[in-house]
Amino acid sequence: MPSQETTEPARAARALADGYLAVVPTETVYGLGARADDPHAVARIFATKGRPADHPLIAHVYNADAARAWARHIPDYAENLMREFWPGPMTLVLPRSTRAADYITGGQDTVAVRVPGSPVAREVLRALGELTADSSIAIAAPSANRFGRVSPTTAQHAQEELGELLSENDVILDAGPCVVGVESTIIDCSGDAPVLLRPGKITADQIEAVGGVSLGSASSTRAPGTLASHYAPRARVQITDPESLTELGPDPTVGIIALASVPTPPGIVRLCAPHNDDEYAASLYRALREADSLELTCVVAVPPEGVGLAEAIRDRLQRAAH
Ligand code: TXA
Ligand code: MG
Repeated sequence: MPSQETTEPARAARALADGYLAVVPTETVYGLGARADDPHAVARIFATKGRPADHPLIAHVYNADAARAWARHIPDYAENLMREFWPGPMTLVLPRSTRAADYITGGQDTVAVRVPGSPVAREVLRALGELTADSSIAIAAPSANRFGRVSPTTAQHAQEELGELLSENDVILDAGPCVVGVESTIIDCSGDAPVLLRPGKITADQIEAVGGVSLGSASSTRAPGTLASHYAPRARVQITDPESLTELGPDPTVGIIALASVPTPPGIVRLCAPHNDDEYAASLYRALREADSLELTCVVAVPPEGVGLAEAIRDRLQRAAH
């Protein structure tokens, strides 16, 4: 029995240390975590998600020093990024050290590492390091959804996705809605120039400014989770522009996702009305889930324009629509 003083993050750290799974809130989305040095626990992540075994996982660590233990080489531009953006919504793909086993990296010679910024995730990592006497220990964690589905941004969403598949010793932590709402920016740092593998809150401009180098484009690195079809609700997602909305007739089975400045066509279900890109990212996945719980058949989405976080939102909408 946990003592009354046991805090929720401490309970999750205990479960992880004992080889169980924990759903951990991060600032991006909720993750389904296991201690990264336990192949059986990590295998349960794949089984629970229904995820193909060759899709590599992100190793979440407490700080940059811990991240260094997972890489055998870190280019200067990546050190700059680590200093500026960690803890935070950024994942770096680095040449792996011997710590990063094949069952984490999908057999690749690189490993994805992130120092998450949410206080709860940090507390879980700190406590896990203490329990295992290993300050470089990682939590391997993909987003806490079934394979190919929408990432959860609340504990309730994670519960709906995976609750029935977890055991009584696994833990779901609740820290409210995720602040960012879309997955971390993934940057391949295994070559001479950084390559953007997945857009997110940390933008291309920021990477170039802080890294001190231009982004490269070609990359031989696979990012298998970045499939064309991903993040998909059951409802069909259709990307549209504001002008075409006037062609929509009243239809209670159709929902709309768009900035608040875009008026709701008569008889269409409004799923969210964010005022800027930050709000758009933070409400996007909740809105896609809302469409399913309302049993809508179609979602029309008006993507935000411009660069930065808008690119990440367009990326997720395109995959949801594929
Ligand atoms: O915000 C996030 O990144 C969330 C939270 C929980 O940290 N995690 C997340 O994990 O989105 P996941 O597994 O859903 O997506 C991770 C992506 C996948 O597309 C995977 O292929 C890619 O990272 N990835 C992992 N290791 C890699 C590697 N060594 N090389 C290239 N891509 C890698
Ligand atoms: Mg995912």
